[in-house]
Amino acid sequence: MSDGATARGSATEREEARKTAEGLEHLSGFGNEHSSEAVPGALPVGRNSPQRAPLGLYAEQLSGSAFTEPRAVNRRSWLYRIRPSAAHPAFTRTGNGALRSAPFTQTVPDPNRLRWNPLPAPAEGTDFLAGLWTLGGNGDVTQRSGMAVHLYHADASMRRVFSDADGELLIVPERGGLLLRTEFGLLHVEPGHIALIPRGVRFRVELLDETARGYVCENYGAPFRLPDLGPIGANGLANARDFRAPVAAYEDVEGPVEVVNKFCGNLWAATYDHSPLDVVAWHGNHVPYAYDLRRFNVMGTISYDHPDPSIFTVLTSPSDSPGLAGVDFVVFAPRWLVGEDTFRPPYFHRNVMSEYMGLIEGAYDAKTAGEGGFVPGGGSLHNMMSAHGPDRETFDRASAAELRPQKIDDGLAFMFETRWPVSLTPQAARAEHLQQGYDDVWQGLERHFRPLR
Ligand SMILES: [Fe+2]
Repeated sequence: MSDGATARGSATEREEARKTAEGLEHLSGFGNEHSSEAVPGALPVGRNSPQRAPLGLYAEQLSGSAFTEPRAVNRRSWLYRIRPSAAHPAFTRTGNGALRSAPFTQTVPDPNRLRWNPLPAPAEGTDFLAGLWTLGGNGDVTQRSGMAVHLYHADASMRRVFSDADGELLIVPERGGLLLRTEFGLLHVEPGHIALIPRGVRFRVELLDETARGYVCENYGAPFRLPDLGPIGANGLANARDFRAPVAAYEDVEGPVEVVNKFCGNLWAATYDHSPLDVVAWHGNHVPYAYDLRRFNVMGTISYDHPDPSIFTVLTSPSDSPGLAGVDFVVFAPRWLVGEDTFRPPYFHRNVMSEYMGLIEGAYDAKTAGEGGFVPGGGSLHNMMSAHGPDRETFDRASAAELRPQKIDDGLAFMFETRWPVSLTPQAARAEHLQQGYDDVWQGLERHFRPLR
């Protein structure tokens, strides 16, 4: 895509996509029984599967949980579409690119603290799917347990359609806005927002800027939900009403459309004779959604110490053990620090959970910013029981700081915190953008111990 006409075409397309993105309506709320119709009368009334669905549409259920799971966690949606999803030719294997899946067995799990610079620029014409690059993960994709950490760097809109049978995709843009065209309608996200595409839902990613870069947590396990609030009460953290679901919008496109399906770790492709984004109406709770992380209602201490970072949990994917997440998505958003006689940055820590951290903008309060440090688009991995915490400079500064109320407002960092160690792909273990000498940030932490005599 190097000729001028194509490049100009892309700019026009981006402009159009941006216009579309900025005029979008949405439905509000997390986990609701939403319903939406792009054409009046397309939704059947009083039943899901009438003998003849309205307007000549096909009725189809998409089950995101087993039929029999308890009502509180049961997820399904009914789709009313121009053609049923079943109308497609055979899928055949296609290249996986830099996308990999659990189990990750090609490298020896690494107890070292690791940190990466941002992904290098993609080859020209790389779309979101081709731009996915897997860092590592855990669990087993065929067992619906565990997770994968991917990054993406793209410079072209998808012409094709993608769906992931292996898990839901939590997309965390760091650079460049995205227009997500899904079976359920359109979502617009910018850096600082997140989008979630549920397991099996078809979508296409269009770029709103020249390039798009960010992170993806592919969650093989139980769907993300809002964490319980316990003594916090009925409000706070990510408030349910701030989540946006799309309104129904469909493509009535006849002609070849490539559809790629990720299934048990591999990509499979088929050329449909129509667009599968042809859902005219839908209802249900297995739906894509978006959320602006700046709406997160941050909780913290107003006396001393600071709570564990679980207080910053946006979404959690529970495991079979109460309180033990398969993966948590945690955000370090702008907040006040007011703790008295308190070491205010994140404390030194060893954790049975494994922590992958990324940075959306600015700086993170436990690490010195700048070149060769923890930078936007980069990431760090502190695997199970690896010792981490503030670097020397941060420790020295925070130990001596005058403890006035202080606003941290120059950064947006996040964490995928998972119950099992993250094993790396060979491409991540040997990446040129893997930083050398990350351990050095904890060098020079001087001995201050003075036993009383
Ligand atoms: Fe930690």
